[in-house]
Amino acid sequence: MVANFYYPPLFSVAPMMDWTDHHYRTLARLISKHAWLYTEMLAAETIVHQKGNLDRFLAYSPDQHPIVLQIGGSNLENLAKATELANSYCYDEINFNCGCPSPRVAGRGCFGVRLMLDPKFVAEAISLIAANTDVPVSVKCRIGVDDHDSYNELCDFIYKVSSQSPAKHFIIHSRKALLKGLNPAENRSIPPLKYEYFYGLLRDFPDLTFTINGGITSIDEVNGALKAGAHGVMVGRAAYHNPWHILGHVDSAVYGAPRSDLTRRQVLEKYQIYGDSVVRKYGLGPTVRDIVKPLLGFFHSEPGNGLWKRKANSAFHTCTTVKSFLEETLVAIPDSVLDSPFGEPQSGRGDLFANIHGLLPTPYRAREVDAIAI
Ligand SMILES: Cc1cc2nc3c(=O)[nH]c(=O)nc-3n(C[C@H](O)[C@H](O)[C@H](O)COP(=O)(O)O)c2cc1C
Repeated sequence: MVANFYYPPLFSVAPMMDWTDHHYRTLARLISKHAWLYTEMLAAETIVHQKGNLDRFLAYSPDQHPIVLQIGGSNLENLAKATELANSYCYDEINFNCGCPSPRVAGRGCFGVRLMLDPKFVAEAISLIAANTDVPVSVKCRIGVDDHDSYNELCDFIYKVSSQSPAKHFIIHSRKALLKGLNPAENRSIPPLKYEYFYGLLRDFPDLTFTINGGITSIDEVNGALKAGAHGVMVGRAAYHNPWHILGHVDSAVYGAPRSDLTRRQVLEKYQIYGDSVVRKYGLGPTVRDIVKPLLGFFHSEPGNGLWKRKANSAFHTCTTVKSFLEETLVAIPDSVLDSPFGEPQSGRGDLFANIHGLLPTPYRAREVDAIAI
């Protein structure tokens, strides 16, 4: 880990397949210097099989630190090998995916959130990953799977994994996953959020580090979660759909850095140089559309946003550079939007966690019995 970063992350952007790619992370880093950035999940098998082509999957520009590689897999040998191959890329943490319910993942043997049903395997996997990397290893999981959704079962999982492996940092997507009947998007919205389970873990495992995730959509809520005791907050969709208003306040409102007078126009100028330096780097890709995709939420709820998106839709067909794309579309956005600094954070449910400590589940007490069952 790079020594001058505060660890564990106070604020992080969640791993999101097809979303938190190199392009999005470049944009995110132009807006926030302090947010930790998680990669999309990379299957251990992909890393192992693409051994001759690793830069394409693992390389990133040095200013993306602090950055975490998320690995998924269920084959111990491949997990160990993949971590060893990734080690020279100097990520700041390796995260193991135990939360993804996608059939693309969960259907392939025991992978993603299904692993919550097998803490012994998770502990073995983490131990092997840790033996092959120089940086901390964390776990991202849900609060349960199907009917295995009691607070006690969640604690059993955390206890077994943390006592049998070097994992000390857990990121808790605070809703359970259903393996059948819901698609991945529904699995991120239909099972109810139970933040009281998250805060129960903080109380019952005081030696571990916990990052809360799920349904947090404003900087007020991020600070509310930290104030209630969370060690860190991970934001996914809101940081993708509204990067300016979420990431733009992380450095000052979460990390206490001085307010920046950065504008969207300045960010776009830098992003354009980046974009045109990588367009079609790998033959057919990335395309202008791939590179511009993370910008689609950049003018969220601002005047001109609707027109800008319509112009973007047609510019995708004609523009072969990011420069020409921006020239053609930015006429839709008023200068006042392009040249304003971040302003005040948008208000959110700052009191979301205010009463959480009155709702906590019964304390976890099953450790000794479970320790024998492992
Ligand atoms: C498009 C998309 C892709 C995702 N891919 C991953 C992934 O690769 N690994 C993972 O652990 N979670 C993945 N997630 C889940 C997020 O990391 C996060 O846990 C979830 O969106 C809840 O946080 P939020 O409410 O702040 O978005 C994905 C979510 C979305 C929306």
